[in-house]
Amino acid sequence: MSEKKAQLVIDGKEAAIELPVYTGSTGPDVVDVQSLVSQGVFTYDPGFVSTASCDSDITFIDGGKGVLLYRGYPIEQLAEKSNCLETCYLLLNGELPNAESSTEFAQQISSHINVDEQVHHVFNGFSHDAHPMAMLIAAVGGLAALYHDSLDIDNAEHRMQVAHRIIAKIPTLAAMCYRHGINQPFVEPHGTLGYAENFLHMMFGTPGADPQVSPILSKAMDTIFLLHADHEQNASTSAVRLTGSSGANPYACIAAGIAALWGPAHGGANEAVLKMLYEIGDESHIEDFILRAKDKDDPFRLMGFGHRVYKNFDPRAKVMCQICDEVLDDLGVHDDPLFRIARKLEKIALEDDYFIERKLYPNVDFYSGIILKAIGIPTSMFTVIFATGRTPGWISHWNEMLSHPYRIGRPRQLYKGHTKRDYP
Ligand code: SDX
Repeated sequence: MSEKKAQLVIDGKEAAIELPVYTGSTGPDVVDVQSLVSQGVFTYDPGFVSTASCDSDITFIDGGKGVLLYRGYPIEQLAEKSNCLETCYLLLNGELPNAESSTEFAQQISSHINVDEQVHHVFNGFSHDAHPMAMLIAAVGGLAALYHDSLDIDNAEHRMQVAHRIIAKIPTLAAMCYRHGINQPFVEPHGTLGYAENFLHMMFGTPGADPQVSPILSKAMDTIFLLHADHEQNASTSAVRLTGSSGANPYACIAAGIAALWGPAHGGANEAVLKMLYEIGDESHIEDFILRAKDKDDPFRLMGFGHRVYKNFDPRAKVMCQICDEVLDDLGVHDDPLFRIARKLEKIALEDDYFIERKLYPNVDFYSGIILKAIGIPTSMFTVIFATGRTPGWISHWNEMLSHPYRIGRPRQLYKGHTKRDYP
């Protein structure tokens, strides 16, 4: 039972309403307002700025300090010492794998990496210039058709198999979106390659030929997937949880997450950052764009800047910036104009009172696009990369929710429409 209490006094109500207050292992306390509906009132929190939708053990963010922990491990340490598959295991299972469980997990993922021929045909319904995010939503929805009747989401083993399948197949489907977009045949996954390495092989390889993937680019891709793997209750993860709360097919839940991620305010920002840097075009234009970003009458926002939770540097952006330096250097691209504009833009913005007052810092999307472009990935594929990286987090949250008693999510509203009136 909760030790702490909150008192809510509402004008017109005789007695104060007493509400339990819960304390997590770290982070802000929460006030349990579930009983308010029986008192005839709702809380009101558009955008869920001050609302905890659930409890979770997976990821912790301290936005004020720029801290991001996956199952307690700082993202900087995981980016330096771990790898994408090990981090997938950590998010899903709660602990780092030992050598034996790591090998077994990698074999599980490898065994599910191929995609059924029926899903290949989903792509035939799309023109080659279709946005790859639309294709990815459809392809993952297609998995829901394949794996539905025999699936018992209340069975923990079935849920773990779903997690292995979707973590394994999402890079294959992502690469298929790209290959369809360039009107080239799909490249089969190669059994001996690592997770990110196989993805780049399926993207840029030649069907039937031996893989030739740069170890430097594989490592950069692996770290980019790792950095995107989870981020607490963001919009797309909340979409996965809300969809899952109705008992929907888990692949349909992931498709819902992909759809929510697509928007430029969320995962679509990485694509929007590149377009913005191209539009700026030269360092001499930066000041004009900063003025536009500050102009309330101009819808333009500095893409890749600001965050609902981080009011300090996004720790992922710092790692991403380091990778940028390394990859561009390794590729001999010592003076990428876009990277130069991005660095200058960051410097100017961080010295500007408008951004300082609002605690607007670069987020995960600010530098990722520059690396992806250097790897050879087209801008339209950037959010597909984000979705591929985030899938382990989405399915871990889905599994966590279904591992405990849960109720369908059903928010209420402040109604401001017509009161009852008779039909004339
Ligand atoms: C991701 O939630 C997550 O965890 C998401 C994510 C994840 O890993 O899942 O971290 C991934 O989505 C990162 C964010 C990517 N989006 C962008 O880079 C798009 C640009 N950023 C903004 O649209 C905005 O900062 C948001 C959407 C990220 C956050 O919006 P909020 O929290 O609703 O903040 P707000 O719109 O209320 O802004 C507060 C103030 C406003 O000014 P005032 O009205 O107070 O004068 O800051 C201003 C905003 O106008 N502002 C910006 C700005 N972001 C906020 N002004 C100019 N440029 C910006 N980028």
